Amino acid sequence: MINSKLPKIFYGGDYNPDQWPKEIWDEDMRLFKLAGIDVATVAVFSWALLQPDEITFDFTWLDEVMDKMAQNGVYACLATSTAAVPAWMAKRYPDVLRVTSDGKQRKFGGRHNFCPSSPSYRHFSRLMARKMAERYGNHPALAVWHVNNEYGGSCYCNQCEKAFRVWLKKRYSTLDAVNKAWNTRFWGHTFHDWDEIVLPSALTEQLGDGKTTFQGISLDYNRFNSDALLECYQAEYEELKAATPHIMVTTNLMGTFKPLDYFKWAKSMDIVSWDNYPRYDTPVSVTAMRHDLMRGLKDGDPFMLMEQTPSQQNWQAYNSLKRPGVMRLWSYQAVARGADTVMFFQLRRSIGACEKYHGAVIEHAGHEHTRVFRECAQLGEELQRLGDTLLDSRLDSKVAILFDWDNWWAVEMSSGPSKELKYVDELMKYYKALFDRNIQVDLIGVDTPLESYKVVIAPLLYMMKPGYASKLEQYVQQGGRFMTTFFSGIVNENDLVTLGGYPGELRSLLGIWAEEIDALPPEASNDIVMTSSFGELEAGSTYGCRLLCDLIHSEGAEVMAEYGSDFYQGMPALTRNRFGQGEAWYVATSPNAEFMDRLLLRICQESGVVPLLHTPEGIEVTRRSKQGQQYTFVLNHTDRPVAIDLGDVVYKDLLNGEERAGVAELPAKDVWILENEAR
Ligand code: GLA
Ligand code: ZN
Repeated sequence: MINSKLPKIFYGGDYNPDQWPKEIWDEDMRLFKLAGIDVATVAVFSWALLQPDEITFDFTWLDEVMDKMAQNGVYACLATSTAAVPAWMAKRYPDVLRVTSDGKQRKFGGRHNFCPSSPSYRHFSRLMARKMAERYGNHPALAVWHVNNEYGGSCYCNQCEKAFRVWLKKRYSTLDAVNKAWNTRFWGHTFHDWDEIVLPSALTEQLGDGKTTFQGISLDYNRFNSDALLECYQAEYEELKAATPHIMVTTNLMGTFKPLDYFKWAKSMDIVSWDNYPRYDTPVSVTAMRHDLMRGLKDGDPFMLMEQTPSQQNWQAYNSLKRPGVMRLWSYQAVARGADTVMFFQLRRSIGACEKYHGAVIEHAGHEHTRVFRECAQLGEELQRLGDTLLDSRLDSKVAILFDWDNWWAVEMSSGPSKELKYVDELMKYYKALFDRNIQVDLIGVDTPLESYKVVIAPLLYMMKPGYASKLEQYVQQGGRFMTTFFSGIVNENDLVTLGGYPGELRSLLGIWAEEIDALPPEASNDIVMTSSFGELEAGSTYGCRLLCDLIHSEGAEVMAEYGSDFYQGMPALTRNRFGQGEAWYVATSPNAEFMDRLLLRICQESGVVPLLHTPEGIEVTRRSKQGQQYTFVLNHTDRPVAIDLGDVVYKDLLNGEERAGVAELPAKDVWILENEAR
């Protein structure tokens, strides 16, 4: 477990004492104690101070900070400092600098500013990780290693181009295989020499807006770039593990961050951590999905909430304050979905540069008499009282939604059929319907086993990876319920179309053939007309749909609904195919929310999956369990008290020790954590 040195939900966040005179550090410790803070992420951007030149290392200030933390019961989430290269390095070794997609070499500045293929960066970052491990590996304050920070971005320099060719050779062995994978006979792209291959950039194939003329090339570049950054991480990971095999290593991820294949990354992480920055108008269901995705990266293991703001951001268009109670509510939302830490960016608000208006536990006023501090301290106290009760408990979900980065890239790179096609948005429609019903969902990757799920949903399963269709067939054969949508089964992992009719490899499982795909302009819609009754979807009832409409023929599937208008009126819009012991559903278009809700609720019911609780709108419910105890989280996201029917189970509320049963009122923005014995 992450919290072995202090068995409770770690509470704290990013702390930058190096931005402050040391006279203030004791005051920081006093305030941390008041707020119940017991973990601080230190040295995230400290490379330039820790290594003032190529040969000098100076850890004096960090030694003092680490010692002070240890004396004050504050554990270190210790960063390796490699997320921003020092100016001397950029000057002396310009190969560390990135080149933009339009070919400009950057100068020193900003952060996350290193070329992932740079030999100098690789050398110096590895060395830095080793130095940190040597110096602090046995320090009593050390709790977890934090490598770099929010890896991301891309580079188009010559050394990345060379590295891309090496990566391609490894993947394809021959140039012939590359030409085939990329279908280079299109537009005369046949390559006769490895050195003819250049990176897909704004100077070559990239069209802006994420589109590209050669999806195969751009997909491989995305994979390469994600891998190149991952190799930088792995090098540091190796150094840290060699010195401190018992200390967990992480790097902070960013939820639905498109450029990096996090399922692949998570394999090299001891624990997943992530930074949660919803905007003022981000639906809570979207945040919930991101938490579930981060939990899914390591098959449901608890994760770290590494960053969130106690009050406001600085980098959004409108940096609204979190309203009273919201920071606490959203912190518990993370815990409810599997977080075993609650951490902020930042503990003390800096005085200069772009984050001076980013919220902090200690605001510019510098004392504890602020609204934000009081709210942080209240939560700190609650987390202390919760102790180790929730640690390592897990969520048990019977429904899974597939999430695949390659598929995401491919769907949105494709030129056509609609520019409105957005993978995460489409996936969210399915997620939201389940979220609104308090049906717990796991977000899973293509390597995740399916057996433990009653229902598996794969929205927009456009790209079929080798073996995945047969994995799905086997799952359904043995009684699983599978659902996918329009624009699925179209291409292989290189974005080459599977010939012989859509949905390609999924055709027999689904028992349909999709002959054409219609893209509806924004002002157009069609209707789904039920031909059979299915739960609350009554025969004859009609629901709006839009975006894309697949024109499908049944090849054995039962037609549950058909289109209501246009020249394909009467063609199937929803089908169910019985296959082995299970069934496979195809949703041929993008339905409205009412349809989604009724369809998914019924499919869950038929699979024996029931909501955790029936609650009014705006109430979120999840459940974690361990050792025969279960913990039901009930969160009120609305601005008013809401009556909730808990049924006949008698629960103990962990936050105040009260017993709860029957109908009880949950105040606005408030939370219950209800314990009972699993039955
Ligand atoms: C990111 C970074 C932090 C900080 C915050 C501000 O999450 O990791 O260093 O810049 O954003 O919101
Ligand atoms: Zn580069």
